[in-house]
Amino acid sequence: MSNSFDQIISRKNTQSIRWDKYPADVIPLWVADMDFICPQFILDGLQKRLQHGILGYTYASETFKQKIVDYIDRQYGCLIEKEWITFLPSVVSGLHLAAQHLLGSSDHALVPSPAYHHFYDSVNQAGKQFSEFHMTLKDGRWVFSIDELEALVKPNTRLLMLCNPHNPGGTVFRKEELIELSDFCLKHQIILCTDEIHADLILDEGLRHTPLVGLNHLITENSFSLMSLNKVFNFPGIGLAWMVTKNVEIRRKMTAQIHASVPEPNLFAYLATELAMTPDSPSSDWYKELIIYLRHNRDLVEERIKTIPQLSMAHLESTYLAWIDASQLQLTDPQEYFLKAGVALSPGTQFRAPQFLRLNFGVPKTILSQALDRIEKACQLI
Ligand SMILES: Cc1ncc(COP(=O)(O)O)c(C=O)c1O
Repeated sequence: MSNSFDQIISRKNTQSIRWDKYPADVIPLWVADMDFICPQFILDGLQKRLQHGILGYTYASETFKQKIVDYIDRQYGCLIEKEWITFLPSVVSGLHLAAQHLLGSSDHALVPSPAYHHFYDSVNQAGKQFSEFHMTLKDGRWVFSIDELEALVKPNTRLLMLCNPHNPGGTVFRKEELIELSDFCLKHQIILCTDEIHADLILDEGLRHTPLVGLNHLITENSFSLMSLNKVFNFPGIGLAWMVTKNVEIRRKMTAQIHASVPEPNLFAYLATELAMTPDSPSSDWYKELIIYLRHNRDLVEERIKTIPQLSMAHLESTYLAWIDASQLQLTDPQEYFLKAGVALSPGTQFRAPQFLRLNFGVPKTILSQALDRIEKACQLI
């Protein structure tokens, strides 16, 4: 491998949320960013721009928008139009805008459980009602059930949120599953929203991401997707996201008051994303090597967890976020227990699954192995 993902680089005192929260002897495997340097090609481009020295207001050029159109075509094989794109500084802001502006005051939403906490926070903070639909294990994958959705839907249900690939749990939803879900949404006139930030982190060979815009004509009229390269190229600290929707009314509602709550993306965010999208750039080698590295780390986590009798996890199809069932430990606070053993994991409570833990393996192998040793030892003490 030409890019050394094995290299250990200290992130202490770099204003890293992940590394600065806990004492130095704790291995922090919680928040979802990776301990890998961005592709050199992107860093060089950012440095060149910085050297210009004037960092004024910026905008998304037509060339950049076209690069997104080409990227979506290249990566997922679907054609969108430049006009369908709206830029945002983050995916989270898109979730919040949706809850605020696509739901009326008495409308209701359907939100997956477990899910990334902003799914609930967005609807809760907007003061709207929601019901949780559950991801349950079926043939080793965390999936939703249309029967449960049919039982939960109300006459005032207007929005359904899905994370594809799913965080936590890593499910890469198959085209047939998404078609079923979109048929459900069309039948009940519900807007379907997908958070696709983990789209390019598919670890299983042979699986492919299906964006909503690649499904069919009808659902593209009644849905929107939130996309970003923040996760995959590891620059969430200068983040950029975009919403894709063919539906003019969704675009209008989401953006009518956008400046009241959401700032413009920053100069470096546009530039980093544009550089990452350049076809055949050295970033594509970095990307291929990243996926291989993460796949090995994923395999290591799965093998080690299998040997610990009180822990289990389903096979992870995507993401660098292992979703571990710690219920057999019968602890009131599993996160606290492992923190005392020197590993900071994301608590399942954050995703509404208190007996689970999320482990970020986007780190050099030696760090991961050390953390897994500590986890194993801590389990042996119970
Ligand atoms: C599913 C999901 N959506 C959104 C985000 C955050 O994205 P952003 O930084 O663009 O708001 C994360 C970060 O972990 C995530 O896992």
